[in-house]
Amino acid sequence: MIYTLTLNPAADLELSVDQLEFNSVSRAIDSRMDCGGKGFNVSRMLKNLGQDSIAMGFVGGATGLRLSNELEAAGIDCQFTSIVGETRTNVTIVEGANARHIKVNQAGPVISESELTRLVESIQQRLQPGDWWVLGGSLPQGVPTSFYAQLVSLIEDAGAHAVLDTSGEALREGIFAGPSLIKPNLEEAQALLELDEEELNSTQAWTQALLAMGAQNLVVSLGKAGALMASEAQLHEFASPSIVEANPIGAGDSMVAGLVWRLSKGESLEQALPYGLACGAATASRPGTELGELAQVEQLLEQCRQIN
Ligand SMILES: Nc1ncnc2c1ncn2[C@@H]1O[C@H](COP(=O)(O)OP(=O)(O)OP(=O)(O)O)[C@@H](O)[C@H]1O
Ligand SMILES: [Mg+2]
Repeated sequence: MIYTLTLNPAADLELSVDQLEFNSVSRAIDSRMDCGGKGFNVSRMLKNLGQDSIAMGFVGGATGLRLSNELEAAGIDCQFTSIVGETRTNVTIVEGANARHIKVNQAGPVISESELTRLVESIQQRLQPGDWWVLGGSLPQGVPTSFYAQLVSLIEDAGAHAVLDTSGEALREGIFAGPSLIKPNLEEAQALLELDEEELNSTQAWTQALLAMGAQNLVVSLGKAGALMASEAQLHEFASPSIVEANPIGAGDSMVAGLVWRLSKGESLEQALPYGLACGAATASRPGTELGELAQVEQLLEQCRQIN
């Protein structure tokens, strides 16, 4: 089974206006509400690939209910931990006339100690050897930066596989706990290791440094340039298919979905990576929050080749 964990989900509200004006009332000409959250995106992409997963995490209040209803309507098995606080809403206002936008993220609920304990218990009840657990996104208020590290240890000690896709201190501490796979993008890897531009060119050195911290396998996504893959003494570079980019946000989550989909079937990371690239590219070619579809992924797959 594949589990995805989203600790800090959000309803993403997008309002479109012709012209943005301060100190006056603007009327939205269009609006839409989407489920936001890295783990949710991974579960949604897995569904598009024909792969079931169980979505876990914190949801609360009317917004939380709305998100879980939407995921369930999409055919995703939801096993959430309910919280007292209200799941956050992130607001984007897009100004059509000048093609610019403002995005404001709500801080979101504070998780209590007992809510955190309930989540850990519900994870522990499900731990089975051989399963895959995707831990994605930022941590909500009240959750210590060591929390992903704690989960990675629980999961790996149970003989299951943790895939960690987060950033900053939570990523640093999580890597030390030895996850099966991490998938930072170049910016996240650079920030984590505090690399200057010159050091960034020594790819072999810094990818090995990330592995030395504790990650068992490493994929660094490079947007349209493809991805690097490193494990033990090996470093490989893969090209991404060329597509017409519509919206690359969420491409990384789709890549994680593609990787876990194939890894959970027993494939090696070399075999799985082309699927990750094709899934990322398929989603980047879609407008808005749409994710790639299986047929497109299969078609893009032949262009996903190893460069060296
Ligand atoms: N414009 C593009 N053309 C082709 N492939 C792309 C493009 N953008 C993304 N991809 C594919 O998706 C993968 C992941 O993209 P990226 O490196 O942007 O992830 P990310 O920064 O983690 O994204 P996010 O966190 O917003 O989901 C890339 O390795 C690549 O295979
Ligand atoms: Mg990412």
